[in-house]
Amino acid sequence: MNLQGMLATKAVTAYQKEASDKTLVRALGIPALVAFGIGGIIGTGIFVLTGLAAAEHAGPAIVFSFIIAGIGCMFAGLCYSEFAAMVPVAGSAYAYSYATLGEFVAWFVGWNLILEYMVTCSTVAVGWSRYFIKLLDHFGINFIPASLSSAPFEAADVGYEVHMTGAIVNLPAIVIIGAATALCYRGIKESTTVNTIIVAIKVAIVMAVIAFGAKFVDTHNWVPYIPKNTGTFGQFGWSGILQASAIIFFAYIGFDGVSTVAQEAKNPQRGMPIGILGSLAICTVLYIMMSSVMTGLVPFKQLDDAAPVVVALEAHPQLTWLTTWVIWGALFGLTSVIIAMIIPQARIWLTMSHDGLLPKVFGVVHPKHRTPHVSTLITGVCAAILGGCLPIGILGELVSIGTLIAFIVVCAGVLVLRYTRPELKRPFRVKWIWFVSGMGVLFCAAMAASLPSGTWLRLILWSVLGILIYLFYGYRNSRLRVAQAEAEQA
Ligand code: ALA
Repeated sequence: MNLQGMLATKAVTAYQKEASDKTLVRALGIPALVAFGIGGIIGTGIFVLTGLAAAEHAGPAIVFSFIIAGIGCMFAGLCYSEFAAMVPVAGSAYAYSYATLGEFVAWFVGWNLILEYMVTCSTVAVGWSRYFIKLLDHFGINFIPASLSSAPFEAADVGYEVHMTGAIVNLPAIVIIGAATALCYRGIKESTTVNTIIVAIKVAIVMAVIAFGAKFVDTHNWVPYIPKNTGTFGQFGWSGILQASAIIFFAYIGFDGVSTVAQEAKNPQRGMPIGILGSLAICTVLYIMMSSVMTGLVPFKQLDDAAPVVVALEAHPQLTWLTTWVIWGALFGLTSVIIAMIIPQARIWLTMSHDGLLPKVFGVVHPKHRTPHVSTLITGVCAAILGGCLPIGILGELVSIGTLIAFIVVCAGVLVLRYTRPELKRPFRVKWIWFVSGMGVLFCAAMAASLPSGTWLRLILWSVLGILIYLFYGYRNSRLRVAQAEAEQA
């Protein structure tokens, strides 16, 4: 085993060459890219997590938490944009790391991106299942027994024990992942067209909540705007705002998924920055307005519910008509997040397989549909197994940390490449790179640091598993390393 091989970087020009191959189909214009970003962003975060974060950590100042997380994501989004316009390949953060920080870091990032994309898909499907059952209840339909709509395993509130719940499987979660997988298998054009329609519906519903809800906001609910800290770190006050920003960071995950469809964009040089930064900016504004309205409609303590938007609306008889729409909005919203997570996961595996770090089967492209159909199927099957068997708590906590690690590496990598390859053409060049890159690392590291220690422990276990797979498979089969070894021998 040689350390130099593990630190080898892949030439940016090699990726640029791969990006110009015509295997995948270039079907996505700018509106589809922005919609793809929004599709991945608006989901569980705003429809579920905002309530908990406001009620237990930040109060009405949850708005500041959204601003802090949004600024952190904006720095990361700028760095992603520079990379995605310059190296428009499906591998996203994995490929950028390979080009700047070497193979081992690239593998580590690729391995952690599984937490971001595949595990988010499972997490969101569990949330979808809850909203689906709620919708059926709303119409008095009750044909799915609880044993078929919840996870057979549950984590203890304290400690690391996992016990049986008596349920069999979360069937709705499996069905929605199956449907989304079938769509993603079928074609990028088909998937993104459905996604764009769904995004239009969910954004309209979010805007309706903001517009109609604003009339009933009682400003007394905003007093005090920053509730006094209880004496415990993270329970209100500024530490609470920070902790809430780490929780609702989940609400922003997804904008980076735009960079994974770079090889399917009509004009990635222009489309990538607009898709990434445009979707992020639109969602940040919507989140700030939506959380202001929610905390203005009811005292923030009441938002501690799995459906906080419904709770806020039901407090005002004139707004109850909107609740059915919100449930539909959540169902649609979560469906597009699932689609927008399966697509990136399959494309990252495709790139890793082309580099030899994963078996060839992950890199097969369907001759007719021109999608990485095998990777898509593997993503769907694994996500369905996780979503069908594990509860939301176990799944959700790993997602943010995996994503933050990818963001930190991308922010650092963009700066490294400015020095190692200054001559490369950068269609989108970030200004004040030291500041943007440094602040991106700082904001993301601060959010990662405020996640619970149990999450870090699970991340370490996950990483050890990943490193073992790399040492036994990736290291031995890496195309770059094999080529280097052959060149040395010749
Ligand atoms: N941002 C996505 C959501 O909130 C992952 O569901």
